[in-house]
Amino acid sequence: MKLPFAESWKIKMVEPIHISTRQEREQWLAEAHYNVFQLKAEQVYIDLITDSGTGAMSDRQWAALMTGDESYAGADSFFRLKDVITRLTGFEYVIPTHQGRAAENVLFSYLVHEGDIIPGNSHFDTTKGHIEGRKAIALDCTIDEARDTQLEIPFKGNVSPEKLEKAMQEYADRVPFIIVTITNNTAGGQPVSLQNLREVRAIADRYGKPVLFDSARFAENAYFIKTRESGYADRSIKEITREMFGLADGMTMSAKKDGLVNMGGFIATRREDWYEGAKGYCVQFEGYLTYGGMNGRDMDALAVGLDENTEFDNLYTRIHQVAYLAQKLDEYGIPYQRPAGGHAIFVDAPKVLTHVPQEEFPAQTLTMELYLEAGIRGCEIGYLLADRDPVTRENRFNGLDLLRLAIPRRVYTDNHINVIAAALKNVYDRRESITHGVRIVWEAPLMRHFTVKLERCNS
Ligand code: F0G
Repeated sequence: MKLPFAESWKIKMVEPIHISTRQEREQWLAEAHYNVFQLKAEQVYIDLITDSGTGAMSDRQWAALMTGDESYAGADSFFRLKDVITRLTGFEYVIPTHQGRAAENVLFSYLVHEGDIIPGNSHFDTTKGHIEGRKAIALDCTIDEARDTQLEIPFKGNVSPEKLEKAMQEYADRVPFIIVTITNNTAGGQPVSLQNLREVRAIADRYGKPVLFDSARFAENAYFIKTRESGYADRSIKEITREMFGLADGMTMSAKKDGLVNMGGFIATRREDWYEGAKGYCVQFEGYLTYGGMNGRDMDALAVGLDENTEFDNLYTRIHQVAYLAQKLDEYGIPYQRPAGGHAIFVDAPKVLTHVPQEEFPAQTLTMELYLEAGIRGCEIGYLLADRDPVTRENRFNGLDLLRLAIPRRVYTDNHINVIAAALKNVYDRRESITHGVRIVWEAPLMRHFTVKLERCNS
């Protein structure tokens, strides 16, 4: 008999979690103004709000913490981290930052200016925020296929070479760099193929422009290249990683995802001019160049995390679990962005809550229903998160409206996944009775989803 799949680790430390009653959840959600970001973690049973900084570190990582060197300048920990990054990526210059958006802030302070245009594939919201905040434009050149949630193609995170070429023809003189997000979080944790990265590189070269990778989930991207792109099945994750980054000039990294740490980030590049240009901003915003917002011990844990998470077994365990949730949703007929992505399942909310009009935010409504059903906290990646158009101030309803169920790394078992799937099925089974969504009572001008206050439309 073929042995079934099992995790490539065993558990050494546990943390109790508790389920609440529906009545308690009704009250807590109302107190949180129907915004799950405003809930206390203790009010949540299974927390899928993000896979960022929520993973479990290994025994090797905890051991590495003890070797941290907390010297202000020139810490050993920095050089250990830098060596791992250089070995994995080929990038010689490394600037640590306290998280991914800080890396964006430091690098973009040097690279992005008013009136610039930065083409790429579905810029993440902080990336877009750092671009738009500098009065520049984040131009989305993702392939159109990514918008059809039911279409099954292997590399749905790709940049459209046609759209990118057109953008360069029109605006090349305003483009400081091209950004590629691997994996493409906003499009559903969807990977970008090496072939596509090569096409982007070729266009960039023709126009003499650098390429930056937003690399938060680069290892998951490498996993999909190995398992889906022809010619890579026999290559190691580390070899593929090296080949991917060989096509970029530099990277910004949120280490809270594929670095397997709870906090951290960095910039790495082969370009001396980027390093020289950005380093002053690191000192100004983050800290001295060899710690930039990280403790020495955290740099050591990250060095180990990067090494571990570029091994196939670890990635296989993780992505297999995300695929397992997808398989359950397939059984129940619940529509999500296909195929399953690397870090999350994105449920296509308007296809589930067909009676909730877009003005009443279907994905937010589904997020609330799932929490009320079983204390499971997902998050809306949809019309609320899309913010208003900076010029017209109208809501942006032109993208997808998704409920993201992000799976933390090495945290939940497949039994938890069974609970998540069953809770979603219960909501799905009563979808016809959900006819009202929410309206906004208060919102911030940018990144409103974190703090928005809502009320029910039928109240
Ligand atoms: N880039 C991508 C693709 C991201 O997904 C994130 C964060 C960032 C940059 C910013 O990194 O949080 O360390 O400052 N994504 C988290 C999420 C928050 O839930 O998807 P950060």
